[in-house]
Amino acid sequence: MKFPTKLETLAIHGGTPARAKLLPYGRQSLSDADIEAVVEVLKSDWLTTGPKIAEFEERFAAWVGARHAISFSSGTAALHGAAFAAGLAPGDEAITTPLTFCATANCILYQGATPVFADVSPDTLNLDPGEVAGKISPRTKAIIAVDYAGHPVPLDELAELAKAHGALLIEDACHALGAEYRGKRVGGIADMTVFSFHPVKHLTTGEGGMVATNDPRRAETMRRFRNHGISSEARERQEAGQWFYEMVLLGFNYRLTDIACALGLSQLDRLPANLVRRREIAAQYTAAFRDLPEITVPAVREGVNPAWHLYPVRLNHEMLAAGRAEIFRALRAENIGVNVHYIPVHQHPYYRDRFKLNSNSNSKESYPVAEDAYERLISLPMFHAMTPQDVEDVIRALGKVLIHYEKKMVIGR
Ligand SMILES: Cc1ncc(COP(=O)(O)O)c(C=O)c1O
Repeated sequence: MKFPTKLETLAIHGGTPARAKLLPYGRQSLSDADIEAVVEVLKSDWLTTGPKIAEFEERFAAWVGARHAISFSSGTAALHGAAFAAGLAPGDEAITTPLTFCATANCILYQGATPVFADVSPDTLNLDPGEVAGKISPRTKAIIAVDYAGHPVPLDELAELAKAHGALLIEDACHALGAEYRGKRVGGIADMTVFSFHPVKHLTTGEGGMVATNDPRRAETMRRFRNHGISSEARERQEAGQWFYEMVLLGFNYRLTDIACALGLSQLDRLPANLVRRREIAAQYTAAFRDLPEITVPAVREGVNPAWHLYPVRLNHEMLAAGRAEIFRALRAENIGVNVHYIPVHQHPYYRDRFKLNSNSNSKESYPVAEDAYERLISLPMFHAMTPQDVEDVIRALGKVLIHYEKKMVIGR
């Protein structure tokens, strides 16, 4: 794909858009086999709490390389389950990243514990172990690290830090299903690894989530937590001809249905191919953009193979005559569905107000790397069903917009 080299009138200024129809930043792809799998369950005896749940959990656990996988009704519910199983409670702290979807930090608040933010590394925008080390206190019970955009965090360093301080490492791998760290898929490395099956993810069940762990006790706790805290499941009781059950802890109804699990099982068959396609798209973007002075492409560290949930580029404002808001609008006008991931969590009004009210230390702190990144980030469309033409459209549109807004003292390219 050739990068455009001449000025064209931007769509935002009345020119012809790079493509006729909006290309979203992410979307699901469903096959006939997916639909048949769901229909089969709809015709069966069990729409929920049936046999598809264990089947999906077992195949998922085997695929990511963990002993146990516990399904939940969303990635957010799965994070809550992991925070509960980590024993987070009022008085405890959990260290996490500000550059994430708010659900990552919210699960700490659900348990009445206190989120403590640590800044991210400038290359990957993942939690920086040096910053985490500076935030550890006797109250730290967990480190909740996010594999931003699908690039695994430094799991060995973070696991070592957690262990040395008697804390647990929870990996929020909602972006990273299929990512590899030092030759192993994420899922069996951290104490608990959390996944999301939202439609923009690598595998979808509509809404859905999973926690993978090697610890049987925590797995059992999470199975109860997602089922009201009840000690047995409806199907076990029916099959045993039993009515008796006990509620042993305060749980929720966070169950994933058999309908959703059937979809998940069918989607799991195509996960390897989806990952290959996402990696191909990322490689094409990187080849097209890596030498442009106006943007920085995502870094990939030695020893990792990212899963590419997102492809976030950072604008080099110094080289551009317009800010992120205008460049974002210009790309949207070209019908490229760009997005921004993320507004740092501590900048959301709820967090600002709550922690100011409590005069928590977070209110006075800043996270310069995350805050600077947020001002520059634009996520380009990235999903496995993108066609070669879609990828070409994104490359051409970004080229067209950057040439328009490049600072004119930059000569040629
Ligand atoms: C990093 C991260 N954590 C957690 C979640 C929550 O997942 P869900 O939407 O399945 O509840 C998301 C959702 O996109 C996410 O990106």
